[in-house]
Amino acid sequence: MVGAGTMGGGITMSFADFGFPVKLLDASPEVLAKGMQRIRDNYAVSVKRGSLAQEEMDKRLALIEPVETYEAIAECDVVIEAVFEQMPVKKEVFAKLDAVMKPGALLYSNTSALDIDEIANVTRRPEVVAGTHFFVPANVMKTFEVVNGARTSPATLAAAMKLGRDIGKVSAYAGNCDGFVANRSRIPFNLEQGLMVEEGALPEQVDKVMVDFGYPVGPFAVNDMSGLDISYDTRKRRAAADPNYRGLPITDRLVEMGRLGQKTGKGWYRYEKGDRTPIVDPEVHGVIKEVAGQMGIEQRTFSDEEILRRLLFSSVNEACKILEEGKALRASDIDVMWLNGFGFPRYRGGLMFWADGIGAREVYNQIAAWHQRYGARWRPSRLLQELAERGGLLRELKGRMAR
Ligand SMILES: NC(=O)c1ccc[n+]([C@@H]2O[C@H](COP(=O)([O-])OP(=O)(O)OC[C@H]3O[C@@H](n4cnc5c(N)ncnc54)[C@H](O)[C@@H]3O)[C@@H](O)[C@H]2O)c1
Repeated sequence: MVGAGTMGGGITMSFADFGFPVKLLDASPEVLAKGMQRIRDNYAVSVKRGSLAQEEMDKRLALIEPVETYEAIAECDVVIEAVFEQMPVKKEVFAKLDAVMKPGALLYSNTSALDIDEIANVTRRPEVVAGTHFFVPANVMKTFEVVNGARTSPATLAAAMKLGRDIGKVSAYAGNCDGFVANRSRIPFNLEQGLMVEEGALPEQVDKVMVDFGYPVGPFAVNDMSGLDISYDTRKRRAAADPNYRGLPITDRLVEMGRLGQKTGKGWYRYEKGDRTPIVDPEVHGVIKEVAGQMGIEQRTFSDEEILRRLLFSSVNEACKILEEGKALRASDIDVMWLNGFGFPRYRGGLMFWADGIGAREVYNQIAAWHQRYGARWRPSRLLQELAERGGLLRELKGRMAR
């Protein structure tokens, strides 16, 4: 395991939990020691809770060996890289791996969105390079996205799929594109969530609709848990690079007011000390009104059904585009990712399975109407349009051009 941070630690635990020995490497002895301590602390929490025996914790920790040089990992069968999400750093690591790893070793990257081909191409063995995308926390979440590069060999892909299963994950194939399949299909949901609030839907209404639908927690309460500042820097960076980038000024304003979520006691909601229950905060309503007013957006009321459909149809449309481009093999893989990675209510069957309950024709008509009203971001997928015209099930859609 290269990188002993949040993901590297969780991935290491995933393997140790299933009896695999792991060598853990980081950039400096200090960071490595911190990473090892975090792993110990995480196991200790489980022991304290009674879900893990002390003896079992000791057994798992004994499988993890911190190491300080690349030479020390040269004989490993598989390397998973989880260093900083910066292309130059990834390239440096893969060049080093290429120099030291034994022939036949498999080289996987846990990148969230970077181009696997660019990473693979710094090595002289791009056929053994693929993406293995874990979700956070890596030792808990089941989704395991296997990302296929242009030069990845079928054997490397198959080995990654099996590796996921060997550590109790649910492996699913993804093509190499920005955000891969799971996150890419989820991004439109996040955007609509922000935009509906500008138009007058309140965070507590959106959250209630989604909890009634079956999610354990609503999306705004989830934002408060992970911290509103997480995506703040990304938005600023994207806005600087692209003048057409659609930012989220209300979220940005909350961050600038120091409302970062649970960690500061205030975010989309407010929190009493020592209590994680979200409390509706009129101050947030004021911010929403003020920012929307500055943007010249008129506030209106939303029905619960409109909220649900705005969030989920945007992702259904993106999922169809992913299939259209051959970046996923089949619609049911996307459902599997949503069920195991995003807390989608299991009894709804998955995003595409759920949408079949409404029917492709109605989904398409609504998306086409929103395309007229809201513009380019709602451009209907061609595949969805064809399905609506000929009739058929979204959940049975197959990826095009997939190799
Ligand atoms: N955090 C998430 O939610 C999440 C989810 C999925 C994927 N990822 C991806 O996982 C990767 C790691 O993310 P993270 O959240 O664990 O980051 P992190 O900052 O917690 O950890 C990165 C670790 O890499 C180490 N590192 C940096 N350069 C190195 C080098 N040259 N050699 C060895 N070690 C080096 C750092 O010291 C640090 O310990 C990123 O590519 C990220 O996009 C993150």
